[in-house]
Amino acid sequence: MPHVDRRALVLEHTTLRRPELVPELQLHLVDDIVALWKVTGEDDPPPFWAVAWLGGQALARYLLDHPDEVRGRRVLDLGSGSGLVAFAARRAGAAEVLAADIDPFCATVIELNGLANDLSVDVTLDDLLADGPPDVDVVLAGDVWYEREMAERVMTWLRGSSARVLLGDPGRAYLPQDGWVELGSYDVPTTRELEGVESKRVRVFSPATR
Ligand SMILES: C[S@@+](CC[C@H](N)C(=O)[O-])C[C@H]1O[C@@H](n2cnc3c(N)ncnc32)[C@H](O)[C@@H]1O
Repeated sequence: MPHVDRRALVLEHTTLRRPELVPELQLHLVDDIVALWKVTGEDDPPPFWAVAWLGGQALARYLLDHPDEVRGRRVLDLGSGSGLVAFAARRAGAAEVLAADIDPFCATVIELNGLANDLSVDVTLDDLLADGPPDVDVVLAGDVWYEREMAERVMTWLRGSSARVLLGDPGRAYLPQDGWVELGSYDVPTTRELEGVESKRVRVFSPATR
């Protein structure tokens, strides 16, 4: 989408709302991601940044309830979208937070969502999966197992990381079945339009080997 005023588009088409499971934070969100996709351009990826995904909500809830996981640590939020998980880490006391996403809208929306919550995080639009994992203490990833190619890239990349890894996932198709320790689970309200059900069980995991 060349020459688009992303800030104006986000402000025009979203409303500030609190995710059901994480009312401590507010985000610029939409109900109808398909309608917004028509505005952002269907040749571009869907506007994932306009939804608080189930995996991200569960991981954010877990961090706010277990701040010791990130307090004082350097944290990377991979596939940050709206920045939900990154902001939860910041609110929980992380020393540094880098939100990574490859969608250029994320730089805009994460800045706007930061202003709405009086929180700031760093943002990169580099594809970090193309390089080795950066030097951080904790890697967070909310809802990144929805697509085969990305899931395979994430899994390979995570194997090269020595950081503590925390994932939130609602049972997406490409989450590897084995090798995880479950740290928590949550029933998260959603919509039939988005997920085909009114609520889903969402789990927070870390790799069994760390
Ligand atoms: C389903 S959304 C989850 C967003 C957020 N974590 C949440 O739970 O609300 C997945 C995100 O991963 C991002 N993504 C896809 N490929 C990526 C990559 N190679 N590096 C970083 N982010 C990526 C997408 O742009 C999208 O924002």
